[in-house]
Amino acid sequence: MIELLKIEDLDQVLSIEESSFAKPWNRQYFINEINNNEISELYVYKEDNQVVAYGELWFMFENCDLTKLAVKESERRRGYGSRMLRYLINVAKEKGCEFMHLEVDVNNEKALRLYQKNGFETLRTRKSYYENGDDAYDMMKGLIGIESRKILAIESSCDETACAIIDEDLTVYSSVVTSQIDVHARFGGVIPEVASRMHVEQISTIVKAAVDQARINIDEVAAIAYTIGPGLIGSLHVGGIAAKALSFFYNKPLIGVHHLKGHIFINELIKPLSYPLMALVVSGGHTELVYIENDQSFKIIGTTLDDAIGEAYDKVARVMHEAYPGGPVIDRLAKEGKPHYQLPTPKVDGLNFSFSGLKNAVLQLVKKEEAAGNTINKNDLAYAFQEVALNSLIRKTRMALEQYPCRNLVIAGGVAANSRLREKMQENFSDMDLILPPLKYCTDNALMIACAAVHYLKHDKFVGMDASSMPSMSIED
Ligand code: KG4
Ligand code: ZN
Repeated sequence: MIELLKIEDLDQVLSIEESSFAKPWNRQYFINEINNNEISELYVYKEDNQVVAYGELWFMFENCDLTKLAVKESERRRGYGSRMLRYLINVAKEKGCEFMHLEVDVNNEKALRLYQKNGFETLRTRKSYYENGDDAYDMMKGLIGIESRKILAIESSCDETACAIIDEDLTVYSSVVTSQIDVHARFGGVIPEVASRMHVEQISTIVKAAVDQARINIDEVAAIAYTIGPGLIGSLHVGGIAAKALSFFYNKPLIGVHHLKGHIFINELIKPLSYPLMALVVSGGHTELVYIENDQSFKIIGTTLDDAIGEAYDKVARVMHEAYPGGPVIDRLAKEGKPHYQLPTPKVDGLNFSFSGLKNAVLQLVKKEEAAGNTINKNDLAYAFQEVALNSLIRKTRMALEQYPCRNLVIAGGVAANSRLREKMQENFSDMDLILPPLKYCTDNALMIACAAVHYLKHDKFVGMDASSMPSMSIED
């Protein structure tokens, strides 16, 4: 979160300042800037109440000077500098400034790269600008006519119809989701034909609601994104056709997003992702360990050999005569459960998973008890199933990280909402930079597709009007 710097942030800011600069500003200087300098605005970027970056702007009519930008040493190379810079550029733009200026040490390669990447150009060299004799580059960026590109994204891979609009700086303009869950719950699972039909009924209303909420014209967006796969073929088609119609009518490029990349990249709304990154993808259709070297390189290093974990949750709930979707039900029942039933631990070599043996063991146990006229203690059974299933996720994730050391660990997908999984991840990976998506981002939505689409847009990865939906698309494609 980025906000105006307050006096109480100064201790943290000063410690970063002292370890970052040869001639650090002192406390009195900062206090003076905050209280007495009318042209100054200081901002801090905070993560869990800890300052990770800060910066200062001076507003001088049409010009804005970036007089300070610093990132805490232990948090560098994580994208905080870029986010802070883009935020400050937006502040300057909103105040009506036409240029942004800064000076940077010619030997500070990382800072130079950051500024160049963000559109700053060198105007001239100031000789011996710094006390140590280093030269400085005087850099400038024009602020007129530069708009962050907006993306309109559609998600329709399963039983949620959704549309969202964000810009490439991850400013959220709107996000609208409607779920068909109540209808499918009556049948104990998603009925594909019913899902497609309901998407057809909903899609125009949802897109219109997202555009209205964002208060934009579709003309203003830079691209139309949609989930191209994996998912239910009929459901995917509806979103695809809607996206193509918008793309054709408004003459906008089309982005076909992999659904699971959406589940991964929505974590960027929490904080920037650092690479290499390990993603534990746990949903109704997938259970995968994905090693991500950069935003273009995805390698599945472990996957389920049979059922996905969400599927196992849903089937176990069904066996216990509980409602669909089963995941949240089992999560709730298990909270009251005790260790009582014994279930077999899945035995699979390497980094792969298996949940069908565990699911069948639950099925057999229920049948046996019912045949004997005994009542199942649902809380205890949910507990037993969940502990075995989740422990296998934790064990394999640990093994994966030993083989593929990573800077970040994220969990992604519907099952990431599971309260016990979140607890276990925190307990077992306290040594890692772990990102848990907030619950509202775990279920399918279009914001996630938009967050992933930002990366496609950055790399000019578009699809044509003839692109087909891919129900079983791999994240490596
Ligand atoms: O990602 P998602 O919304 O759809 C797919 O792309 O598959 O995941 C849906 C799955 C369902 O199997 C659902 O039972 C499971 O996520 N799920 C949960 C929880 N909430 C949803 N599983 C365990 N615990 C939960 N709290
Ligand atoms: Zn999903």
